[in-house]
Amino acid sequence: MHFLTRRNFLKTTTLAAAGAALSARSWGQVVGANHTIRAAVVGLNGRGRTHVKNLNAVPGVRVVALCDVDAMILRKNAQELGAGIKTYTDIRELLAASDIDVISVATPNHWHALMGIWACQAGKDVYMEKPISHNIWEGRQFVAAANKSRRVVQAGTQIRSSEGLIEAVAYVRSGQLGKVTAARGFCYKRRPSLGQVTGPQAVPANINYDLWSGPAPLIAPHRNSAKNGPVHYDWHWFWAYGNGDVGNQGIHQMDIARWFLGEAGLPRHTLSVGGRLGYVDDGQTPNTQTIVHDYATAPLIFEVRGLPGADGAAMDKYRGVSIGNVIDCEHGYIVSDSYFTASAYDLNGRLLKEFKGTDRLMQNFIDVVRSRKTAELYGPLEEAHVSSSLCHLGNISHQLGQSVVAGEAQAKLQGQPLLAEAHGRMVEHLASNQVDLAKASLTLGVPLAIDPKRECFIGPEAATANALLTRQYRAPFVVPAVAT
Ligand SMILES: NC(=O)c1ccc[n+]([C@@H]2O[C@H](COP(=O)([O-])OP(=O)(O)OC[C@H]3O[C@@H](n4cnc5c(N)ncnc54)[C@H](O)[C@@H]3O)[C@@H](O)[C@H]2O)c1
Repeated sequence: MHFLTRRNFLKTTTLAAAGAALSARSWGQVVGANHTIRAAVVGLNGRGRTHVKNLNAVPGVRVVALCDVDAMILRKNAQELGAGIKTYTDIRELLAASDIDVISVATPNHWHALMGIWACQAGKDVYMEKPISHNIWEGRQFVAAANKSRRVVQAGTQIRSSEGLIEAVAYVRSGQLGKVTAARGFCYKRRPSLGQVTGPQAVPANINYDLWSGPAPLIAPHRNSAKNGPVHYDWHWFWAYGNGDVGNQGIHQMDIARWFLGEAGLPRHTLSVGGRLGYVDDGQTPNTQTIVHDYATAPLIFEVRGLPGADGAAMDKYRGVSIGNVIDCEHGYIVSDSYFTASAYDLNGRLLKEFKGTDRLMQNFIDVVRSRKTAELYGPLEEAHVSSSLCHLGNISHQLGQSVVAGEAQAKLQGQPLLAEAHGRMVEHLASNQVDLAKASLTLGVPLAIDPKRECFIGPEAATANALLTRQYRAPFVVPAVAT
């Protein structure tokens, strides 16, 4: 596989002469408490705008450059920031610039690992949105590139920066509620139909679609929702670019569930049940999904619901939670129904303790860019890689699964009480949305056995499942093999 060395990388850019890359040592000499950190934000339609705001809010940081493949979005954001902002369409030119110290990335998922690796190789520190990968293999290459280059890489898992959640995890780990019996995550978030188009859609002239597609195949979009048009945001629901809602909203709560478990790697087994149900539209990924990861400590169980709750308006709740976590323990449980707070209860539902906090992730990134003490990052790349991989594992189980008729999934899940219980609730939820499982296509995923050390599949499904650990990259947007 093509390995993009720093030398090759700079050679391939128009600004090669700038000789942008700094070694970890030279960076350490340049940056100090008084040095203004010059930041660039990549991908500005949605989340990237928050990056601009959050970076400019950190004392001693200045957003000096923006990069987007949509000329209209780029111009609008540059105008808002005023004179002197440099703009780029191609991240390779941005990375070759010597007047940028750090980049933060909020592009679609299929670009994350490659941009992160390129940035590390170009000597930039990186704030990378979650999920940090589009597949498991490339996530591991990104981690290796960050370690090898000794760059600071913060993953955009901001919940981990909350004082409250840090305290709640320590509280559970101290054993005050007994052992964890199940770590639950929830993404009950409304996802309406995208509608259906009749054929390939034209890409607006302001979008460089070759660069937008990057490592993914260059194929015309097959979607055009009234809200987002043919290119932006709805890519989340297409396998070539996104990872469904488990890899969109759900990655946050998947990450928190695993954090409470204290499990550092992949699980031993994974199984998904779900489908894209309640409407027929252009989207591909499940809008309803239950995934169970089998860990030695306790199971991690994750639920996605995109259809509304029983009253047809508000979303369902599980013990008060639509988007968040419930951590069941022997003598009580933790509920986190907002990003930065949590509460502990005993088994009678009596409130024992409250944990409160705020989003400190961007400030922490900049602190570590200055100190180079990467152990102090709140969103370490390795953790985000493992949690991103949990989303990919569930999706691989789903993608290799088969349609089952009503009742068949329930029967087959009897040996797994936790999953059977969650599935029963999912079936009730679907019934309240008039989804007739005798007609709709529910997919019972393939049970997957995993070798957590090698981050690959073992057992009967290994051959087919291992093929989904990575993708066919489109030259020249090829993720290099960095890990040994
Ligand atoms: N941490 C959080 O809470 C949080 C919240 C929202 C989104 N996100 C993440 O942010 C990312 C972006 O999400 P979004 O909703 O803003 O998506 P979006 O589609 O609305 O915006 C993505 C932007 O990236 C640009 N882009 C695409 N390819 C590019 C390239 N090669 N170079 C430069 N720009 C490119 C697009 O033109 C667009 O402007 C996703 O990975 C998502 O998971 C994180």
